[in-house]
Amino acid sequence: MIKQIQKHELRLGMYIHSLGSPWMTHAFIRSRFMLRKEADLRRILESDIAVVHIDTLKGLDTLGGTAQEPPAPRVGTPYLEELAAAERIRDEASAIIQALLLDVRMGRQIQVEHLEPIVTRITDSILRNPWTLVSLCRIREADTCTFRHSVSVCALLILFGHHLNLDRATLQEAGIGGMLHDIGKMRVPDHILNKPGLLTEAESTIMRDHVRLGLETLAQTPGVSSLVMQVTAEHHERCDGSGYPNGLRAGQISLLGRMATIVDAYDAMTSIRVYTSGIEPAEALQRIYQLSPEGFDVELVEHFIQAIGIYPVGSLVRLESNRLAVVMEQNRGGLLRPIVRVVYDIGRDLALPPYDLDLSLPEHAGDGVLSHEEPDAWNLDPSAFLT
Ligand SMILES: [Fe+2]
Repeated sequence: MIKQIQKHELRLGMYIHSLGSPWMTHAFIRSRFMLRKEADLRRILESDIAVVHIDTLKGLDTLGGTAQEPPAPRVGTPYLEELAAAERIRDEASAIIQALLLDVRMGRQIQVEHLEPIVTRITDSILRNPWTLVSLCRIREADTCTFRHSVSVCALLILFGHHLNLDRATLQEAGIGGMLHDIGKMRVPDHILNKPGLLTEAESTIMRDHVRLGLETLAQTPGVSSLVMQVTAEHHERCDGSGYPNGLRAGQISLLGRMATIVDAYDAMTSIRVYTSGIEPAEALQRIYQLSPEGFDVELVEHFIQAIGIYPVGSLVRLESNRLAVVMEQNRGGLLRPIVRVVYDIGRDLALPPYDLDLSLPEHAGDGVLSHEEPDAWNLDPSAFLT
């Protein structure tokens, strides 16, 4: 369906039918195209055109535009209010999965039911505020890396599944799958698992075997559902058949498996470690989008972007008012109008006492997110402003 929308309603994943201006159309070479790049979106937003036409059959509709569009998660508790609870849940979850993974290493039988209460609490935290726990999970110390990755993939899968309106029982299984998906790594020799540099071809082959080893462990564990097995089995598959272990193609990978490929890659790209800080969430989303549809299910990637926002919580952004701000909350009003914490005045080259701005409010209609900014370029640590 062709639909006329205001340009500020545009978002990645929409299919541009017409830009309504010959000049703008020339700027894009093609007049009809899928809006995939943040730079293209910015170019349109910065132009003087007011309205564009989108084709909602070929791309995303406006938020809340059609019945099949899943609603954005509703924020019940503000980010900062959820912080203390989310921190506690993250640390407890890390400790629980650490104990469980050590059992695997020791060759002991694991008790999956030990995960049930903590995954329920992770889901509750995400339903209160979808982004607090997820952004806390990005930061990891060297010794907690694998455990935090498990908790993070668990939280991201629940957030993603909630956005897709999956029922609570499925969210629970998705979460347990996230916790256990790399369980096979505990059976990979230490010198390969913890090798600081690049792996040799032979070492990579052994590392990749973590999927098979994980499935073997889970097959011997009572109470593991088929959904948990899917997440574990398929999180390294790719839609074009280039993944492992089975080189499955898009149609052969389950929904939770396809979701897990996106979430696992996103988490690996964005995690902040002691020696290597990952790339910014907004950039990771763009890379994953560019790797679709060959690598990832493009429709699901679009939903994932909606679920966590084009500028996820913790991103450093430049506002139209030429100030730097850190994204604090997503807003139902639009992915480009989050709640931000303003920290820097670029024009005056001045650090500001941080204050919050809800860009969805009418009084801030003249301002908005212009672009993602590289924190290193400004010598700023956005995560420091989140607490
Ligand atoms: Fe893995």
